[in-house]
Amino acid sequence: MARKKIALIGGGQIGGILALLIAQKELGDAVMLEIPEKEGMAKGKTLDIFEGTPLMGVDCNLSGTSDYQDIKGSDVVIVTAGLPRKPGMSREDLLDVNLKIMKNVAENVKKYCPDAFCIVLTNPLDAMVYSFKKISGFPKNRVVGMAGILDTGRYQSFIALELGISTEDVAATVLGGHGPTMVPLPRLTTVGGIPLTELLPQDKIDAIVDRTRKAGTEIVGLLGNGSAFFSPAISAIEMAESYIKDKKRILACAALLEGEYGIKGYYIGVPVVIGAGGVEKVLEIKLNDDEKAMLMNSLEAVKKAVAETKL
Ligand code: NAI
Ligand code: 2OP
Repeated sequence: MARKKIALIGGGQIGGILALLIAQKELGDAVMLEIPEKEGMAKGKTLDIFEGTPLMGVDCNLSGTSDYQDIKGSDVVIVTAGLPRKPGMSREDLLDVNLKIMKNVAENVKKYCPDAFCIVLTNPLDAMVYSFKKISGFPKNRVVGMAGILDTGRYQSFIALELGISTEDVAATVLGGHGPTMVPLPRLTTVGGIPLTELLPQDKIDAIVDRTRKAGTEIVGLLGNGSAFFSPAISAIEMAESYIKDKKRILACAALLEGEYGIKGYYIGVPVVIGAGGVEKVLEIKLNDDEKAMLMNSLEAVKKAVAETKL
């Protein structure tokens, strides 16, 4: 079986970790595309990782470029091109500058990788993945946004920390837009099969939910010069791997809804099945009235950002 070709559009903090994980997991060959001024960085990062492949005992060709010809025919495209948040900046502040970048990227991906499964990470996430879908005209099963896996990972980590147990044993999901209105679902969270609500008092759960909603900002504040990049890259690779290996994992992702959850025409975080068919299914959870209200509140934030794209 021929190796998959994976294009990384953007070779910054997340792009570099994506390339390393692709090599470590032998998911395929990776081409990192950067702006011409940073082509050397893309070439340098990918060569650096390639030189580590004999030591890792893996086969993976990696290269850097600023020429879209080099990503031609890619099976998977992961988009991180754009600016990250700096302290004091909201994800929406990024909208104008990243929208221009997204237009350029989506047009080129459409031209050079017409059959690719595309994962968008660039913020503000729900509006950027919406823009990529609109501009590329790709079917909804092949354009998906990464955010929910990361938000869920943060929520799971904080629960494990509070209980002093393994992060692996927390089963949970986070719905909604990628921002402070996101909707963690404590009612449906379990720890080793036990409902979270039986293990922690409400005030502790509330504190965990609050920290989850602010977790991206917490990292921005600590790093001082950019945003989280290790866990976002790990999250995007979960999605790419499920597609490439047809694993059919259930992952919280920003998917285009067409009536599910009573939402039409917007990308927002929901559990989906990712397999060889891309986003094969949106899973609908029966929400209670409070949860529904929180999801609708989050949708309003997403709608506001999408309106600003004028697409
Ligand atoms: P970064 O600044 O380290 O890397 C972005 C790279 O994109 C830069 O190297 C830049 O030169 C490149 N770039 C800009 N315009 C481009 C173009 N037209 N074509 C190709 N490359 C281009 O940023 P980082 O930390 O890698 O984050 C990338 C994006 O991901 C940001 O928008 C950030 O806010 C977002 N993000 C999203 C998360 C999510 O959960 N969806 C989580 C963390 C970050
Ligand atoms: C995060 O959640 C900034 O969206 C980015 O870390």
